[in-house]
Amino acid sequence: MTQLLITGGAGFIGSHTAVVLLEAGHNLVVLDNFDNSSPEALRRVMELVGSEAAGRLRWIEGDIRSRADLQRAFAAAPAPIEAVVHFAGLKAVGESVAEPLRYWDVNLSGSRCLVAVMAEHGCHTLVFSSSCTIYGFPEQIPINEMAPVAPINPYGHTKAAVEQLLADVVASEAPELARWRIARLRYFNPVGAHPSGRIGEDPLGTPNNLFPFVSQVAVGRHERLTVYGRDWPTVDGTGVRDYIHVMDLAEGHKAALDVLLAEGPQLLSLNLGSGQGHSVLEVVRAFEAASGRSVPYEQLDRRPGDAAITVADPSLAAERLGWRTRRGLEEICRDGWAWQSANPDGYDSPGSQSSG
Ligand code: NAD
Ligand code: UD1
Repeated sequence: MTQLLITGGAGFIGSHTAVVLLEAGHNLVVLDNFDNSSPEALRRVMELVGSEAAGRLRWIEGDIRSRADLQRAFAAAPAPIEAVVHFAGLKAVGESVAEPLRYWDVNLSGSRCLVAVMAEHGCHTLVFSSSCTIYGFPEQIPINEMAPVAPINPYGHTKAAVEQLLADVVASEAPELARWRIARLRYFNPVGAHPSGRIGEDPLGTPNNLFPFVSQVAVGRHERLTVYGRDWPTVDGTGVRDYIHVMDLAEGHKAALDVLLAEGPQLLSLNLGSGQGHSVLEVVRAFEAASGRSVPYEQLDRRPGDAAITVADPSLAAERLGWRTRRGLEEICRDGWAWQSANPDGYDSPGSQSSG
């Protein structure tokens, strides 16, 4: 049993990872300012894991940019925090173009503040949520970890900057005195939901990403999907992505933590993806099959800033973590639909509040 701090643990990926980590027997303190999430997600995490494991979860409402809030989170843990899984941050590409200062502040300054407070507490183990967005327009498919880091928008710049900050922290240590154990996990496209349908992705406003938009069309919140591009050099002219089930991703975090805690000081940089690419139209068809609903669409021009294909080479993660994805597109759509159909308006759906 390890005492962990999870920043952003009420969010989409954080809540699913919290389930996996509680089920693995760990103690968790979640720090979240609920800027893009709801405490209801944490109540449902507790309900999913049962009362014994639920008793090992505490949460603090607070901001990673505040030293005082981070100190409160460290103080709230019943035992010294041994490792941090750092999800908290802002993630919308378009918003990052419009509000770069906010993105640099939350993503970079927040991470800097967290790392400083960790060091004060003698906590040197960190798993960081990075993104395949740092590769920009990839030169080679599949993308391995040696590919150039060349982000093309402010969100990507902040992720690349935090990756560099972490590398600089590791490089500052004399090898014989090294303490930092850091994993920079570069997620491809996280989608799907817990198979219970109780927790899932709950985007604010109209979603920009494909999967939540398709689910919302299927449930009747939008009339049709806009498919961006019909002339990409792909199987059917639509963009191809590496969609990873959020439960596989959650298990990847557990695997990374296990390796860091077992092996000792190091800096890991790993792609977390399936290695499989699917086109937009393949996703639409798979979602229709899983939901039994139709997903009408119209095809328009390409979306600026899109790449034709992004697919991970996940072999390094398999080698270093002994982890690989286990769930395919069918399961992604089935579980995504279980969440969307039971919670058409996300955590605000009528009658969706947990009783306990
Ligand atoms: P999310 O928005 O659902 O979760 C982020 C959580 O952080 C939310 O609960 C939010 O309230 C919280 N938060 C935001 N700012 C905070 C602050 N200043 N202090 C404390 N808490 C704060 O997003 P997610 O999809 O779960 O993503 C988690 C992480 O993974 C993010 O860092 C994101 O950039 C990264 N990531 C996400 C994707 C994706 O497609 N979902 C892909 C690659 C990387
Ligand atoms: C987006 C982010 C990227 C992030 C990634 C992780 C953008 C520009 N990029 O990438 O930084 O790392 O999520 O999940 O937002 N599509 C449609 N119609 C839609 C929405 C999307 O056709 O309404 C297409 C896109 O053109 C693309 C595919 O679906 O071909 C996937 O799009 P999306 O879900 O937005 O993910 P990414 O573009 O890969």
